[in-house]
Amino acid sequence: MKYLIGASILVITFIISIFFIPVDWLNGKEIPYDDEQEGLSKQIVIRFSHVVAENTPKGLAAQKFAQLVEEKTDGMVKVEVIPNGSLYKDEDELDALIHNEVQMIAPSLSKLTGLAPEWGLFDLPFLFQNDQDIQKVLSSELGNKLLTLNENKGIKGLALWSNGFKQMSSNVKPLRQPDDFIGQRFRIMPSPIIGEQFKAFGAKPVEVPFDQLYTSLQEDKFDGQENTISNIYSRRIYGMQKYMTVSNHGFLGYAVLMNKEFWDSLPEKVQQSLEAAMAETTLWMISESQRVNNQQLQLIEQESSIQIHHLTEQEKIEWYKTLMPVYHKFLQNVNDKAMKEFVKNRMKQLETQ
Ligand code: SIN
Repeated sequence: MKYLIGASILVITFIISIFFIPVDWLNGKEIPYDDEQEGLSKQIVIRFSHVVAENTPKGLAAQKFAQLVEEKTDGMVKVEVIPNGSLYKDEDELDALIHNEVQMIAPSLSKLTGLAPEWGLFDLPFLFQNDQDIQKVLSSELGNKLLTLNENKGIKGLALWSNGFKQMSSNVKPLRQPDDFIGQRFRIMPSPIIGEQFKAFGAKPVEVPFDQLYTSLQEDKFDGQENTISNIYSRRIYGMQKYMTVSNHGFLGYAVLMNKEFWDSLPEKVQQSLEAAMAETTLWMISESQRVNNQQLQLIEQESSIQIHHLTEQEKIEWYKTLMPVYHKFLQNVNDKAMKEFVKNRMKQLETQ
């Protein structure tokens, strides 16, 4: 009897399984890989660390990218955005990326000059006349070449983002003429070209990491600084400076970088989704950074007593005449022919203005 029951169970199990075994398997074919079958246990997590506030162009773009990646991969890839340098600070994030402790960062281009002097291109004062000019160069062959510059160091470049133009501020006096800078101490990012810019003005550059900006200013470690409106606003620098000049003299851009080994390990389909999300975010950020900087300039005007001066055309000419030696310094340090050509053309344009 026991034998009969056992045999019946075996027969029934066999008949049921015929209906549930995939036809492909029965035909000896392999079942194709399907992301959904893998389930959430196989979700890919990308940690994206950055040093600025969430309500800045970079902070907003990082969130936008995360949202687009989630949509394009049906949740298979999750981008965890970690703002405000709360995981890795300004000085540590590049190292964290190289060691794959985070998979994505977006440092300012100035902070990459330690890897290659070519990144200093973007620190040249008055390199760009307007936002269209910026976009033209960022999306050009020159921009694309820069993105591959650090692959031998394990860094994959995904995109170049713009936070627009930098403005000057000081506690000592209004900054109108080049002479107004003489003797003042200015906070800079770690970039030799920015250092040269302040030296050409007769000022003293002082390197300060972004996360120490506010406390260093409280401790009187510098008199003035340059940054985009969004950084001046979100770090509340405007509340601690007496004078600001809307000079648009410099550019603040970011390189969106990924750990290269991590990138190479991703399935091609995932890489394509990330590229599509990045292209969309980069485009979106162009108008978004203009919107945020304009809106926050208005807020600074409303909320503070800082004296704001808009650099006149004549003052601008005085500034860039004084700053021309910075271009010569840059040309001494780079070899790329196309880049040199581009810089020389810009010098000619400025000289004939
Ligand atoms: C940033 O926008 O990432 C920070 C720039 C700075 O260090 O001033």
